[in-house]
Amino acid sequence: MLQDKIKQFTEEIKGFAPTSAVDVENFRLKFLVAKGIVKGLFEEFKTVSTEEKRTLGKVLNEFKLLAEKTYSDAQAQFAQTKKSLQREEGDLTLPGEGFQLGSRHPLSLVRKEIVEIFKKLGFIVAEGPEIEDDWHNFSALNFPPEHPARDMQDTFFVEKKDGNDIALRTHTSSVQVRLMEMGKPPFRAIMPGRVYRNEAISARAHCFFHQVEGLYVDENVSFADLKQTLFHFVQELYGEGTKVRFRPSYFPFTEPSAEMDISCTICKGEGCQLCKNSGWVEILGCGMVDPNVLENCGIDSKKYSGFAFGMGIERITNLKYEIRDLRLFSENDVRFLSQFETELV
Ligand code: DAH
Repeated sequence: MLQDKIKQFTEEIKGFAPTSAVDVENFRLKFLVAKGIVKGLFEEFKTVSTEEKRTLGKVLNEFKLLAEKTYSDAQAQFAQTKKSLQREEGDLTLPGEGFQLGSRHPLSLVRKEIVEIFKKLGFIVAEGPEIEDDWHNFSALNFPPEHPARDMQDTFFVEKKDGNDIALRTHTSSVQVRLMEMGKPPFRAIMPGRVYRNEAISARAHCFFHQVEGLYVDENVSFADLKQTLFHFVQELYGEGTKVRFRPSYFPFTEPSAEMDISCTICKGEGCQLCKNSGWVEILGCGMVDPNVLENCGIDSKKYSGFAFGMGIERITNLKYEIRDLRLFSENDVRFLSQFETELV
């Protein structure tokens, strides 16, 4: 009868121990929907005698409240578990976080670009040590003993060694000497590397920076070859139409020597702050290898001639990307570095 049914379902509900949100939903479907048990029992209630109604009305109402409370408690319990799961494992339905790719350092990008241009012209890449002796850094390159560049002011000395002091190389020209000592002409090489000078660090100077040295030695190499090679290089690096000009200069290891300017990459020669309104900016030193240097390296200067050039990678990079402060290159500030190309290699 109705009373028995209520008793039986009350026990079932009291024993309800859901283990998942699915159990909770099944409970709702069984007891609380329009065609569920609670509604069914109320329908049946309409058919019982007035006598019975008096006693069962209260019981039935309590049964209904029990069913509703059991459901809402169970629902809250599983909502809670779902939330704590989300907190522990994260919401697996959210899109992934992704990972940040690093980017190439601007100096590496520019070094690579310079090397690629010269490789196409048949230059090989050579490297030498950063800790160098006096012979390779100075003497073989025709620096007279009293030359100011040997002064403590410019050079970081590592060790005094009667006349062949050990120091951090002050330029990559030392690699020319190592290369020529090792082999026989022809030489056609590009030599990138880090160099050191005893300078106070500022926006315009640093105690270490990077250079690329170039050397071409063979029979009948002329200044015209030097000009054409460097002109081509500038067109490749800064674009067709970039103008070049050579000014006479002096380096102990080249004769004649020159400095090469290019039309300002920022104002295109109109005049701006960077080129100090001259329309030109200097980018490298160059010249014909001094016969003394060839002889110092065991090369017959009557038979062979050559040209050499050297440039600062920082300077080339500054002109390319309009960077005004050298310190940015070594501070490792991600806000600066992340602006450059990302390569997936
Ligand atoms: N070694 C020079 C410097 O550090 C740059 C240089 C000038 C290199 C002329 C050369 C050259 O090979 O021919 O300032």
